[in-house]
Amino acid sequence: MKNIHLLGGLTADQFLQRHWQKKPLLIRNAIPDMRALLAREDLFSLAAREDVESRLITNFRQQWKMQQGPLSTLPSTAQKNWTLLVQGVNLHDDQADQLLHQFRFIPDCRLDDLMISYATAGGGVGAHVDSYDVFLLQAHGQRRWRISAQQDLRLREDLPLKILRHFEPEQEFILNPGDMLYLPPQYAHEGVAVNECMTYSIGFRAPAWQELGEAFLAFMADAIELTGRYADPALRTTRHPGAISDHMMDAVNRTLLKLGSTAADREIFLGEYLSEPKPSVSFDPQVKPLGARQFAKAVARSGIRLHRKTRMLHRGKYVFMNGESYSPGTQDRRILRRLADNRALDATHLSQASSDLSESLYRWYLDGWVDLQTTKALQKT
Ligand code: SIN
Ligand code: CO
Repeated sequence: MKNIHLLGGLTADQFLQRHWQKKPLLIRNAIPDMRALLAREDLFSLAAREDVESRLITNFRQQWKMQQGPLSTLPSTAQKNWTLLVQGVNLHDDQADQLLHQFRFIPDCRLDDLMISYATAGGGVGAHVDSYDVFLLQAHGQRRWRISAQQDLRLREDLPLKILRHFEPEQEFILNPGDMLYLPPQYAHEGVAVNECMTYSIGFRAPAWQELGEAFLAFMADAIELTGRYADPALRTTRHPGAISDHMMDAVNRTLLKLGSTAADREIFLGEYLSEPKPSVSFDPQVKPLGARQFAKAVARSGIRLHRKTRMLHRGKYVFMNGESYSPGTQDRRILRRLADNRALDATHLSQASSDLSESLYRWYLDGWVDLQTTKALQKT
């Protein structure tokens, strides 16, 4: 596999073997000629929106404060020691989405989002650890990172944000635009803006077992079908009316033991769970959609692509999109897997689609999940 400039000359496999979930990597000039994709004003407008997750963190007069978005007003950019974090920028901006795609050597179900932080000199979020792997790409200005493999991860209790009680930095780097720092989960770090700066965090996700388990039980609750109810035609009088009888306990045991899940249940659950968009995400249905026939003609000309908000995965005979599962025939499955892997399909690949798949494509188009490849509608929302 070829060396990826992004990884400082390592191949993606070398990076995964040596660093991923194991140890940090500093990559100087990972993206040559890096320039911020969004101006600070664009970021501030995103932070004011209801459908965008944002946080303002200030450290004025040595006091940490945190405010959740939407944020219609922000401190002056002339004031030091504040930072704005905007989550999921890739959902709202095509260039940010494309940047995230440079990290697709890691599977989509592990990729989370692109968070952008803006900070004035001295701004930061304090020394902390994150639960997930992260690439910290410097996009504008300079940031000083101090990092530590320390085991003491106790937090200060008096603060509105998670800041380590004791931080013992072991390494320190100043990142310039285009430089990038990879950190595995639970690695202590602190980034402080040297001057006005923007840092892009390419974040990952990994399901927490408790959450996954709870979601699985909710999924199974929808799937189970138990007919009939308890009956006791042989009931006799009892001297212990408060007791639950063996007869009832045995009947319940027999019933509950039927509640196992099949491999198919678990596959469908996982695909739906991992492809489910975050609760803040909403799709914009087409405002002036083409009719079904016109759409089919346009698809035959230009092909389709997934909207940047769409999460599409596949496994075995199933295909998953935005929390829904499909089990298409072999030919359609091949087409849909290609769509999931490439996030776009040329017209030639679509010419073999069944009429069922063509109908689904049209529905997904109406709902804003997919669009024609040439359309401008996907630029900015
Ligand atoms: C930041 O960009 O200011 C914070 C990112 C992080 O520490 O994870
Ligand atoms: Co962090």
